[in-house]
Amino acid sequence: MTEDYAARLGRQPSAFVQTFGCQMNARDSEKLLGVLLEAGFEEGRDEKADLVVINTCTVRENANERLYGHLGHLNSMKREHPAKLIALCGCMMQEADEVERIRRTYPFVDMVFGTHNLYRFPALLAERLEQGKRVFEVWDAPREMVEDLPKKREVPWKSGVNISFGCDNFCTYCIVPYVRGRERSRRPADILEEVERLAADGVIEIMLLGQNVNSYGKGLEHPISFARLLEQICAVPGIQRVRFMTSHPKDLSDELIAVIRDNEKICRHLHLPLQSGSSRILKAMNRRYDKEAYLSLVERIRAQVPDISLTTDIIVGFPGETEEDFRETLDVVRRIRFDSAFTFIYSPRTGTPAAAMPDQVDPAVVKERFARLLDLVQKIGAEQSGRDVGKTMPALVEALDPQVPGRVTGRLGNNVMVHFPGEEGLIGTIVDVKLEEVHGFYYIGVAANRPHPSRP
Ligand code: SAH
Ligand code: SF4
Ligand code: F3S
Repeated sequence: MTEDYAARLGRQPSAFVQTFGCQMNARDSEKLLGVLLEAGFEEGRDEKADLVVINTCTVRENANERLYGHLGHLNSMKREHPAKLIALCGCMMQEADEVERIRRTYPFVDMVFGTHNLYRFPALLAERLEQGKRVFEVWDAPREMVEDLPKKREVPWKSGVNISFGCDNFCTYCIVPYVRGRERSRRPADILEEVERLAADGVIEIMLLGQNVNSYGKGLEHPISFARLLEQICAVPGIQRVRFMTSHPKDLSDELIAVIRDNEKICRHLHLPLQSGSSRILKAMNRRYDKEAYLSLVERIRAQVPDISLTTDIIVGFPGETEEDFRETLDVVRRIRFDSAFTFIYSPRTGTPAAAMPDQVDPAVVKERFARLLDLVQKIGAEQSGRDVGKTMPALVEALDPQVPGRVTGRLGNNVMVHFPGEEGLIGTIVDVKLEEVHGFYYIGVAANRPHPSRP
């Protein structure tokens, strides 16, 4: 499909996929790159590549602003290299206003497609290359689930695996259900087949992906719970570590807690977005749990899995948030003591119920609250770090330590990094590491014994 383009350039064309947003987009980008490699592109290293695909996010307004800033830069690159191609896809392209703006004011953008027709990328690319016209195709809703797109993993030893697409929760601030559509679960057999294929290809760590993994399985012909699916994934030979994201607190079952407790392969890390500590605000957010329910859920989890590391997302400045509401959030943060927290300033998203709510909070007040929250979250995070000094824990080695020759960097199950003496051959394997000291947010350690086998 790329022959004419290659002839025009006088060489094999290169392609670069740039990802904004969440793990879901990162996985989609691996599909985009897989398609491009199959179509005859070579992988480019940066946006100097001949074809640049930007996989966009629109969860907060600053995500959109970043894209437009970026496009200006790409435009000047294209003036120097007129055969350059620019494609935009992902969540922001599901917003009709944004697509219209790109159509009108960014004529140098060659292709636009959305989240529901990602699998049409090969056909759309062929259309662009063969007909030379701009190609715009965005669908309002998903039409079918396509299972067999090629994928190019970022690293050989770990991979994300989608278990569901879309979201049915309609938190009142959130645009995701509008740009990703209703929740659809993949069939367990298809998921397991993918995991088995990945394991055979050398993958030892799997990250199961869904906007709300805990509600997995509804609407399937033979419904199964997320907990049962998780057990089946853990049983796949060769898979040594399993993670998942994201867990909605309202759907986190005791069955799931028991499966985590009983299964060593499941990483001792849970990302459990709180969003707010105020029951009144949680109600307005349509989160369908209150402060007490969240606290007691965490208590149940910690009773069963005491060494679990907890992280969260918190929004500051949701419409109507008072100082008292905000203090409830601080209170929950103090009581739970999260290992880390992503904190966000509320960003109104067009079309969501919260954007039309009265009492939008004064930006100066939000800024001040945000700074207080960040302070607290960081203080607690720093106090929490180092709590495993003296323990021996398995680490998946990801890279050579860029700072110190003769050292490698590994990731513990709870996502904390550890540096320890080791050589390149350890990359992609799991090594038991004795954690000897803590430096800020990472450990220094030493390998406790020989590496686990990395291949089945
Ligand atoms: N499905 C996941 C994550 C969705 S987006 C979940 O439910 O947890 C990731 C995070 O972005 C959310 O947890 C929320 O904290 C934040 N977020 C979403 N919409 C936002 C908005 N309009 N303004 C600020 N933060 C937002
Ligand atoms: Fe957005 Fe809520 Fe769905 Fe998460 S659960 S994607 S925050 S609507
Ligand atoms: Fe962003 Fe879409 Fe993910 S809006 S956070 S990339 S689902």
